[in-house]
Amino acid sequence: MPEQTSKSMDDIMALCKRRGFVYQASEIYGGINGFWDYGPLGAQLKKNLRDAWWRDVVMHPCAGKRGPGGNPVRIVPVDTCIIQNPKVWAASGHVAGFNDPMVDCRESKARYRADHLMCMGEKGDKSGQIYAFIDGDEESFATALKKLSKYKKRDLTNDDIDLCPLTQMSAEELKITVGPHAKEVGTLTEPRAFNLMFKTYIGATATEDDIAYLRPETAQGIFINFKNVVDTTRVRVPFGVAQTGKAFRNEVTPRNFTFRSREFEQMEIEFFCHPDEAREWYTFWRDWRMAWWESIGLKGDNLILREHDSDELAHYAKEGAGTSDIEYRFPFTSPGYGELEGVAHRTDFDLRQHQDHAKVKLEYFDQERNERYLPHVIEPSAGLDRGVLALLCEAYTPDLDRPSKVYMKFHPRMAPIKAGVFPLVKKDGMPEKAEGLRDELVKHFGHSGFIEFDEKQSIGKRYARMDEAGCPFCFTIDGDTMTDNTVTVRDRDTASQERIGIDKVVEFLRDRIG
Ligand code: GAP
Repeated sequence: MPEQTSKSMDDIMALCKRRGFVYQASEIYGGINGFWDYGPLGAQLKKNLRDAWWRDVVMHPCAGKRGPGGNPVRIVPVDTCIIQNPKVWAASGHVAGFNDPMVDCRESKARYRADHLMCMGEKGDKSGQIYAFIDGDEESFATALKKLSKYKKRDLTNDDIDLCPLTQMSAEELKITVGPHAKEVGTLTEPRAFNLMFKTYIGATATEDDIAYLRPETAQGIFINFKNVVDTTRVRVPFGVAQTGKAFRNEVTPRNFTFRSREFEQMEIEFFCHPDEAREWYTFWRDWRMAWWESIGLKGDNLILREHDSDELAHYAKEGAGTSDIEYRFPFTSPGYGELEGVAHRTDFDLRQHQDHAKVKLEYFDQERNERYLPHVIEPSAGLDRGVLALLCEAYTPDLDRPSKVYMKFHPRMAPIKAGVFPLVKKDGMPEKAEGLRDELVKHFGHSGFIEFDEKQSIGKRYARMDEAGCPFCFTIDGDTMTDNTVTVRDRDTASQERIGIDKVVEFLRDRIG
């Protein structure tokens, strides 16, 4: 059994709440489905992940690794608006095509994504009732099996049933289907398209002419500024444009904690290259992005790279153009995986669409080749909130031998608390000495995490609090410190302790945090 399967999502969510990583949005008003707030530790963890991406993508792309043909990897950032001219979304295909087929239940008023519903009937019996359940949801599967058994007046097992996706049911079959939360037969509607973009109105009149959309991806802000960036900077193809920011999707079934939210943050690169070089750049980015997730702690069997089958291709991808997902094994997907980042060869689809719709030439003149063309785009598109969720799930490590019973094994670079500084007792000059060390560490590491000063309770309890928060190192000032200027360092993962000079603490942390 993969280790992830034994981690309970309920326990992880409880720790996230208890230690201030993630809260339900609008909690005191009963919450709001599909929205999450980050608490102090979560906000810092999220910032650390975003900052690591920004540093490794924008400031020092790919840690200096060269691209195909020995080209240096050049990336510039932008920060574009959440609301753009609605024509952007007509051109990108989101107005017409960004739909999920939805099914409503007239009885329970629940709404389901059609492709999430499976139907269950007795083997070989096309005339009897059919019971729908939510794919992957064991509880609704068990309920459907129970209802079917009751209808058939005998206990049915998995061997007695046939399963079929609801999307493959005929209109006649839908009429004898019972919805996952319904008692009556035939209350499910036929699947209908439901646009995932959030609508709003610009200005005071709020008529149909004033409709605008909250962006469902940050990518389009980059495409519509392609010409601006080329005209106003010294970048030359091949180069990339990167941005991080909020995106909004009116997901029909937000679920699995922050995994599928209605408001989330993306970290996207649109990398523009000559069409002939697209395949090589695609491979380059796919492999480097995978290595990057590994470098911040998502290692081993829990992380996989999955090339798409040709029947999974998005509307902008053409046959033969690569698309792959970097996927993580979350406890709620285990033993399967959930997407963290997509890497897609988008061809020249977006630039061509905007060129046609805006009637502005977006072709690039390549001086070296003496050729005018629309560049192809390789897009590594990552979810920041999903990345944070993967870090939380990966870090969560039950350990019944510890007072805390669990510790968060964050990569030191990601950890929201970088160090704990504890005076052993509140006297004999120890608090003052500890405060001095705390101030020194804040100076060096305060940009990437908290330095926790704690002088309350027993030292064991203080370590336990830091274990749950995922703080990698704690430094304790004790009686010996006052005479020989050494401190104990306690390592979160091994719980072992060693003594080092107080003047070596900054170096010690720098070597391990980066
Ligand atoms: N520009 C391409 C694009 O947006 P996508 O696969 O739809 O592609 C990219 O989204 C990433 O954004 C996903 O891999 C995922 O990490 C994140 N993402 C998408 N929808 C999300 C949602 N509802 N909640 C949280 N993250 C989401």
